[in-house]
Parts: sequence; C-alpha cells; structure tokens
Amino acid sequence: MKKKMPLLINLPKIEDYRGNLSFIEEKEHIPFGIERIYWIYDVPGGQVRGGHAFKEQEEFIVALSGSFDVVIDNGERIKTFHLNRSYYGLYIPPGFWRQMKDFSTNSLAMVLSSMKYSEEDYIRDHDEFKLRGLHE
Ligand code: TYD
Repeated sequence: MKKKMPLLINLPKIEDYRGNLSFIEEKEHIPFGIERIYWIYDVPGGQVRGGHAFKEQEEFIVALSGSFDVVIDNGERIKTFHLNRSYYGLYIPPGFWRQMKDFSTNSLAMVLSSMKYSEEDYIRDHDEFKLRGLHE
C-alpha cells in the first residue's frame, strides 16, 4: 500500500470584486472527516509550536491570516512548507514530526483534525519517534 505523505492542497477560491471566498468540505477537499478544529494565534515573535507527531491523527493546516513555516520531519529528512495564503493548506498524515515556526505578526493558523483531542495520540519525545520508525 502506498504510504501517505504530507501534501500541499489547493482549495476552491471563488474570486469576486467583493472579496474572495474559499471553503473546505470534509472527505472532498481533504482526505478525512473533521472531528475538531483548533487555531493558533497571538504567537509571540520567535516562538515555536508543535514539536510532536501523532500516532493516528491526520491534520490539515491553513494560514487563514499572515504566514508561518511548518517543518516536517519523517525521521530521516526535514522539509519546510511555507504557508502564506488562505486558499491552500498542508495535509499531514499520521506519523510525521512537525514544528510550526516563523509566525508573522497577527498570523492565524487554523488546524482541522481527524480526531478529538487525545494526549495518548501524541508522541512528544523525538527519540521515541525515531525509534518507532513510522515513516522510514
Ligand atoms: P499542543 O498540541 O502541544 O500545541 P502545539 O502543538 O500547537 O504547540 O497543545 C498545547 C496544549 O493545549 C496542551 O496542553 C494540550 C492542549 N490542547 C487541548 O486541550 N485541546 C486541543 O485540541 C489541542 C490542540 C491542545
């Protein structure tokens, strides 16, 4: 079976002289059903969020406002995705270590999640993440 990889996904963008509109339908524009939405905001300059992987949870991250970087680590290699528009986002399958950093002033990160909050689903220790070898 082909393993799922992090992926930038373009969303619909309805352009209008009154302003643009984008939207997300679960299992249509993103490959999972939405169980939870959270957002990250008022991030002080230089702060880093994330620093963990999920065992099962899938996520889709959109920069609703401003910009930030999402750094994805598969245990061997690191790839950085710059999010700076609200008409696309980053899909992250389970098993990838992620950090979010370089938040611009007033940036707003919306995260759609496939699961309700569960601390048991977090891997917060990078050594444990590497040992598990989820995506090597
Ligand atoms: P965490 O996921 O570690 O934040 P980030 O990855 O953005 O740096 O969560 C920070 C705290 O918030 C942690 O104590 C768990 C709590 N939390 C919830 O209670 N519900 C949620 O939906 C999320 C995402 C976090």
